[in-house]
Amino acid sequence: MPRLWGSRFKGEFGELSKKFTFSVHYDSKLALYDCLGSIAHAEMLSETGIIPKKDASDITKGLKKIVSEIEKGTYVFEPTSEDVHTDIQNRLKKMIGRPADRLHAARSRNDQVVTDVRLYCMDHIQAIIAMIRKLQRSIVTFADKHQDVIIPGYTHLQAAQVVLLSHHMLAYVEMLERDKDRFVDALKRVAINPLGSCALSGSSLPIDRNSVTKKLGFLETSANSMDSVADRDFILETLSDISITGVHLSRMCEDLILWVTSEFNFIKLDDAFCTGSSIMPHKKNPDVLELIRGSSSKFPGHLMELTILMKGLPLTYNRDMQLDKPALFGSVETIQAMLTLMSELFGGIKVNRERLAERVKDEYFFSVDILEYLVRKGASYREAHDTVGVIVKECLDRGSKLADMSITNLKKYSMYFETDVKNLLTPEISVQIKRSVGSTNPAMVKAQITRWKNRLK
Ligand code: ARG
Repeated sequence: MPRLWGSRFKGEFGELSKKFTFSVHYDSKLALYDCLGSIAHAEMLSETGIIPKKDASDITKGLKKIVSEIEKGTYVFEPTSEDVHTDIQNRLKKMIGRPADRLHAARSRNDQVVTDVRLYCMDHIQAIIAMIRKLQRSIVTFADKHQDVIIPGYTHLQAAQVVLLSHHMLAYVEMLERDKDRFVDALKRVAINPLGSCALSGSSLPIDRNSVTKKLGFLETSANSMDSVADRDFILETLSDISITGVHLSRMCEDLILWVTSEFNFIKLDDAFCTGSSIMPHKKNPDVLELIRGSSSKFPGHLMELTILMKGLPLTYNRDMQLDKPALFGSVETIQAMLTLMSELFGGIKVNRERLAERVKDEYFFSVDILEYLVRKGASYREAHDTVGVIVKECLDRGSKLADMSITNLKKYSMYFETDVKNLLTPEISVQIKRSVGSTNPAMVKAQITRWKNRLK
């Protein structure tokens, strides 16, 4: 296969060197973006009179044909091509002949590759944003359907206070909203057009970079040709945003994995997301959730790999940077699969209402409510904390319940106790009496559900 740089050399590039340096087997994922970038570039070269209109039209026609083959999946990459850019250039030359040779004016693969990767990121970030939105919607639908369900909330994985299941679910929606915001914000820095920066110093040809910026849907034209070909911050930022989203998905999975255990038994997953055991016939394992949790370890790995790849590189382009792609593609494809699966999975969750209703009866869940009751009656917080602590200790020692203690008895612990304290000892009351903004109060959670439904329409 013709090289894009062969004429200066006497000898051939070594076979082992080829094997080690060629990238078409992975950068072919950029093919579509490479063609779109080249079409915009050729149009601009023609508009500015740098190449003849007829040649530009042959080039764009040829490239559009290649685009349709790529989209149909019929385009065949030559394994002997150095990279995706070389492959498409060679194919175009075969299709249209000499006019293809004019396409590379005022362009180097250094600005070409980073243009392709930026277009890839713009496209995939937008897809990820849409997928996060879809997942948020399925979580909100699940929350809406289970508005009345009360569950134990945990700190330190120790049962703490009761909360609405829908409140717990909306916590994920908040996390995902921040993730979405981060991706939206990243687009400002991703959607910058580097094309026309050439190898590193720009071009002496009268190119119109702003026209290419518009044609390709970039927000801005890059301001410094050296930074343009040297910069990979936008990949690090994308990977960092993916990593944080991965952290959130893994935490969601962990909650659900705990909840499907026979010890918790709060929910059941649809069979479509579980596997059995080859030895223990009774088992139903949440493998999909475990693999989503597990796959999220990839992202910080990729982020770390590329941070180290870029660290200490001199300006401007260095071939090291070719290695940015497997990590980027790997992370993007994995997060997309994870988001899609999670959206589906929420639709098939069955809540074990009977088990939960039983589980949230435990009096200890209401200890803070009793404490705040004493504060409302006039006790200091510290005094109330001590009072409730002593009662809990005695109940634990004696195996008794606060509900069974007489008011006379309770008054021995604190003069602030009155008969109405007994009204506090149900999970329904516990959530209803919460009144601070953002609390698990049912009316407030309902309002949040409505707010999210409207926002995610
Ligand atoms: N395949 C290369 C990459 O991905 C393209 C740029 C090569 N440029 C060069 N001057 N060798 O980074």
